[in-house]
Amino acid sequence: MRQHVNPLSRNFDEIERIPSLIEMFDDSKLNLHLDVGCAAGDYLFDLALVNSNWNYLGIEIRERLVKTAKLKLQERKIKNLYFAFGNANNIVNDVQSEFIFKNVKSISFNFPDPWFKKRHYKRRVIQPDFINTLSNLLQKESLIFIKTDVKDLFAYIDYTILGNSNFKKIDKKDFNYLESYNPNKFQTNREKYVVHNELAVFESIYIKI
Ligand SMILES: C[S@@+](CC[C@H](N)C(=O)[O-])C[C@H]1O[C@@H](n2cnc3c(N)ncnc32)[C@H](O)[C@@H]1O
Repeated sequence: MRQHVNPLSRNFDEIERIPSLIEMFDDSKLNLHLDVGCAAGDYLFDLALVNSNWNYLGIEIRERLVKTAKLKLQERKIKNLYFAFGNANNIVNDVQSEFIFKNVKSISFNFPDPWFKKRHYKRRVIQPDFINTLSNLLQKESLIFIKTDVKDLFAYIDYTILGNSNFKKIDKKDFNYLESYNPNKFQTNREKYVVHNELAVFESIYIKI
């Protein structure tokens, strides 16, 4: 059962200020990966525990899930992981966050909410304006990773990202996952469910040129 919150609701106009890299991470110089829609962060805990040469930042719009993730983080004292609550579309437009996004090496959107009805497409996290903002912020060679089990959403995302001439698609066959933020190919919770139920996973990787 999918639980959706409307990202266009005014509840999400206020954003959590993302602290500086030094405040968030033990070693602020490590490569930084951003996971958008990280839920309670299980995937990022898996990644952060094993890949001590990366910092991970998760953004999630459901506040309860972020509180759960933050409590778990305090208990485990992991120093290369941070969670922020809010609408990623608003956070990315915040001038205070600008410096953070300039340091992001890769971003993942794993199984974003599909918003099936056409009149709700504007609630989808990936929008032309959002991709335009990312293309202005990200350094060249930064990567965007997409995974979804919804074919129409995949086509929409692909069209939206490639509609920005600063991004091009990478052939997954040529991609060296060992150098990525997820060398062990950990799966998200939704991905485990999808794979277990033998549903299709549509995925692609884009690079900022
Ligand atoms: C279908 S769940 C997938 C969760 C996880 N990535 C996974 O693969 O298991 C999509 C997640 O994105 C979050 N989300 C949706 N729109 C968002 C937005 N604009 N900003 C941040 N998070 C968002 C939802 O609350 C939800 O937790």
